[in-house]
Amino acid sequence: MPEFPDLLQRDLFVLEQNLRTLLSPHLSQKDHLNLLNLACGRADETATLAKILSEHSQTAHIQGLDIRAAEIDQANSHWKKSLPSQTSATFRTHRGDRLRDLQQLDTPDITFLRHQNYWNDRPVWTQIFDQALEKLNEDGLLVITSYFDKEHQLALEALKNLGAIQIGNLANPDTRALTDAPGKSVDKHLAVFKKG
Ligand SMILES: C[S@@+](CC[C@H](N)C(=O)[O-])C[C@H]1O[C@@H](n2cnc3c(N)ncnc32)[C@H](O)[C@@H]1O
Repeated sequence: MPEFPDLLQRDLFVLEQNLRTLLSPHLSQKDHLNLLNLACGRADETATLAKILSEHSQTAHIQGLDIRAAEIDQANSHWKKSLPSQTSATFRTHRGDRLRDLQQLDTPDITFLRHQNYWNDRPVWTQIFDQALEKLNEDGLLVITSYFDKEHQLALEALKNLGAIQIGNLANPDTRALTDAPGKSVDKHLAVFKKG
């Protein structure tokens, strides 16, 4: 593992490696790719996602969405000026369980849910997963990451119950344990699904 100036940079390096292992083999080359970063918070991983997208397309657009306005403001002010010219990003305060109401959504080729929060509110997250699958391009991919073992298992089951087909799973060998909750760890598990 290389040395990093801070833990965030380390986590993003690990995420990039894991996405290249898990997602890249399933991504076909396109002129343009749309990625929806759902429940994105501050969207720290935006440059990482842009890098992966640039390996599979000439241009890309990242749309981020979260219910927390303060985090969305931070994402907008940071990423509007920090991405390579072939990738644009916009962030919006909106409920993921109201994705159906969002007219301005470009059909995602990839929907990304980092540190999904299914077990915190199963009815809401079932809606988020369901509407994410509904909006996804027919050949699109849905990627989740999870902080906890149990939460990951519950999310996998929920997505399968909604008809999604799991095509990959990865237990992150370089996950970083967090101390605010037992068993919590950054991007501890990742999984990729396609539409059923
Ligand atoms: C565990 S955090 C993960 C945030 C970010 N993806 C990350 O990895 O740092 C879960 C996120 O889900 C968002 N969230 C919760 N309910 C939501 C909803 N109904 N629609 C959209 N976002 C929601 C929260 O605001 C929070 O940012």
